Amino acid sequence: MIIAIDGPAASGKGTLGKRLAAHYGLRHLDTGLLYRAVAKSLLDAGKRPDDVAAAVAAAKALGSRFDEAALKTPAVGEAASLVSAIPELRAALVAFQRDFAAIPPGAVIDGRDIGTVICPDADVKLFVTATPQVRAGRRAAEYRAQGKTIDEATVLTDIFKRDERDTSRAASPLKQAADAHLLDTTHLGIDAALAAAIAVVERSKQR
Ligand code: DC
Repeated sequence: MIIAIDGPAASGKGTLGKRLAAHYGLRHLDTGLLYRAVAKSLLDAGKRPDDVAAAVAAAKALGSRFDEAALKTPAVGEAASLVSAIPELRAALVAFQRDFAAIPPGAVIDGRDIGTVICPDADVKLFVTATPQVRAGRRAAEYRAQGKTIDEATVLTDIFKRDERDTSRAASPLKQAADAHLLDTTHLGIDAALAAAIAVVERSKQR
């Protein structure tokens, strides 16, 4: 079974994906980590986030393990949102994602273009969202939990900027697939969101 989850920054899709994968005994891939890992290797090498050749080379050199703590920082997120607009980079990462999905017993894959481009034939597609204010509050709480001091207004500005970039880029923009189920988590905690997602999966299995 392949479950595709898409949604904007800090919508909770990563946490939901992890929990859903554990529930169904599937593997989980947070594809944001791929773009973040490419972005970090460009930053570390002093390259610009629009350096196409360097981005493609970094994608080809990616391993299969990711240091989430080093990748989930505001600076890497910002650079990831810039590099992810490079069509050649997106193309270089397609095979990795599809190969991951194809390994039995299947996977939960989350990102921006999973239901539309990477796994258009996924068994279940979820589009997870929440208001920008709620997403900013969650992201700020994550940073605080990591011991970082962060101003919530700055996080909200960053969320608006990322939404604009992720939805307006020409290459595989963030978009709800026509056959995706919308899951608005604005008023849902993680347990309620997980229960709602499981209900969607179970309904689709009966069809
Ligand atoms: O989900 P995230 O915040 O870790 O993603 C970081 C950036 O990577 C985000 O701004 C958009 C980009 N991204 C993408 O373009 N396509 C994906 N499948 C996943 C992430």
